[in-house]
Amino acid sequence: MSTKPDHDDDAAQDKADGSLESLGLTRERAPRHIAVIMDGNGRWAQRRDLPRIEGHRRGVASVRRTVEEAARLKLEQLTLYCLSSENWKRPQHELDFLMHLLQQYMIEERQTIMEQGVVVETIGRRDGIPQEVQTEIDKTIQMSADNGGMTLCLAINYGARDELVDAVRRVVRDVQAGKLSSYAVDEDAISSRLYTAGMPDPDLLIRTAGEMRISNYLLWQISYAELWITQKCWPDFEESDLHQAIRDFADRDRRFGGLSEDF
Ligand code: IPE
Ligand code: IPE
Ligand code: MG
Repeated sequence: MSTKPDHDDDAAQDKADGSLESLGLTRERAPRHIAVIMDGNGRWAQRRDLPRIEGHRRGVASVRRTVEEAARLKLEQLTLYCLSSENWKRPQHELDFLMHLLQQYMIEERQTIMEQGVVVETIGRRDGIPQEVQTEIDKTIQMSADNGGMTLCLAINYGARDELVDAVRRVVRDVQAGKLSSYAVDEDAISSRLYTAGMPDPDLLIRTAGEMRISNYLLWQISYAELWITQKCWPDFEESDLHQAIRDFADRDRRFGGLSEDF
């Protein structure tokens, strides 16, 4: 039997399994939930004289790397913006390819997801998503539901305004049905009717490809998220970028409208 104190064993274990402490961070300083706007696939391809869809294909490799690293670091949740409610304006062949990639990802990653104990969930409206893609998504959601690890939330046909409209409709319905008093409509009444009900709010929002905008992503939930924007396009996003974002987050002074501890 080891004579070392338990916490030493824990620290050694943390280093070995690549948890956040191995980045030199305490869990209190680290984000629980990271949300990502995976942007710049098209530009990545255009700069290489490749068709836009090639950028999306390469983007899937970044998704794989990021999910695996986030799970290894034992984040509580990673939410990835896969398709916005505005992306339907794109050419049909690009949308078809995105749907194909989504379906393939669900099939090919299932085993890794199960090995890493990841729980898959989705947010967004299901309309417009082909039935065969929905079937593979649902299969992965069901299979992974009892896993105990990180939640991987995929925002598919997601729009924050749609989500708020849907939440308000649910509030109205519940008030009309007598399940909710109009006087009881507060923040909780709304957040518990969002697609993200029960999930922690993102602490850190990462956007690749340099745009300084939110593009209708998680408007309610990111009220106090720290923003981290990189010029790198999504297919070039690597584990080291995720580490840098987390380290920078740990150095931020989150005041939530109050005063910093130094004052
Ligand atoms: C992000 O890359 C992926 C999706 C929106 C589906 P883009 O396709 O928006 O790439 P850019 O912004 O045109 O470079
Ligand atoms: C946001 O990227 C949506 C996703 C990453 C899925 P967009 O490329 O659609 O955003 P805009 O059009 O530049 O705002
Ligand atoms: Mg874009």
